[in-house]
Amino acid sequence: METVANKIAVEKVKSSKIQDVDFDNLSFGSVYSDHMLVCDYKDGKWNAPKVVPYQPITLDPSAKIFHYGQSIFEGMKAYKDEDGKVWLFRPLENFKRFNRSAQRLAIPEVPESYFMDGLNTLIQVESDWVPQNPGSSLYIRPFIFASGNGFHASPANEYKFIIACAPSGAYFSGKVKVLIEETYSRAANGGVGYAKAGGNYAGQFYPTKLAADKGYQQVIWTDDNTHEFIEEAGAMNVFVRINDTLMTAPTSDRILDGITRKSILDIAKDEGIKTEVRKISVHELVEAAENGSLKEMFGAGTAAVVSPISGFGYHGKDYDLPDLKDSYASLLKKRITDIQYNRAEDKFGWRYEVIQ
Ligand code: PLP
Ligand code: COI
Repeated sequence: METVANKIAVEKVKSSKIQDVDFDNLSFGSVYSDHMLVCDYKDGKWNAPKVVPYQPITLDPSAKIFHYGQSIFEGMKAYKDEDGKVWLFRPLENFKRFNRSAQRLAIPEVPESYFMDGLNTLIQVESDWVPQNPGSSLYIRPFIFASGNGFHASPANEYKFIIACAPSGAYFSGKVKVLIEETYSRAANGGVGYAKAGGNYAGQFYPTKLAADKGYQQVIWTDDNTHEFIEEAGAMNVFVRINDTLMTAPTSDRILDGITRKSILDIAKDEGIKTEVRKISVHELVEAAENGSLKEMFGAGTAAVVSPISGFGYHGKDYDLPDLKDSYASLLKKRITDIQYNRAEDKFGWRYEVIQ
């Protein structure tokens, strides 16, 4: 692979703000590290990425991001082990998904070396920002938006690719209560649901607010056509355990192909857990909740890690899930985080060391 690593200019901050950060009480994604990676697309090509001090961006009011929402992003984490080594988890998968999203939003794809060498250089520079406290990590947010100008409804001719970082704690503070959505849809066949497009999240905020008003933290989206089959939650894929079988919906052009999701499936198989990737109907879920065979549900995602679901609401009724002692969620969460934090053997080859 062609590398740009030695071409990445690094401009360091004059003084770090790291001493202002309370690493013992990190929330999710609300304080940002000292530096960011910036890469501009102009005149038909991506220019060399550079690492610069974290700073605001100036845009013209006619920048197309404001009008037509041409933006995509990724979510990744850097983990620090007991010896202070820094690790990423399957970063190439994020890179590939980034470009799948870019293609769908008519955004120019980023060369692999720009993403991987850029990421590596930035995380090397920010290694002090990777928290070591249990459950904390450096959340990494690569994104691209249309910075080019014009009210014409067509793709921009200029873009910015940025990677910013936020030392973060848990995304959810406890178990998550979800509402199965019967009216609104997150995605439709042939749409952009499989892409990490900013607009996919904006479209979820209103239905999620309605659910929050009723006491639910997340919506479980159902298929847009019939609302009969569960798909995924707002920021995570969803797993269901009926008796001893662990199941999740198949990915499609409506569902984000989660890296945590596919890793959990591999780990579960490795544990000898019976897994099924198939359509799961709301009817089946309600029936299983009523006859006691629905043992657990959980969400899986980079930000959410493995987040147990305490129960779900459907058709005005709440279905509570039991508090299991030996849940698949806790077993699988331990196995995946042990790999991510370099506490266990990485038999799948998923860890990627950031050499400092
Ligand atoms: N589904 C949605 C809508 C998401 O935003 C995310 C988070 O990235 C996921 C699923 C989980 O994907 P991953 O495990 O790759 O983070
Ligand atoms: C992630 O899990 O990294 C995501 O991108 C979800 C995000 C909406 C917080």
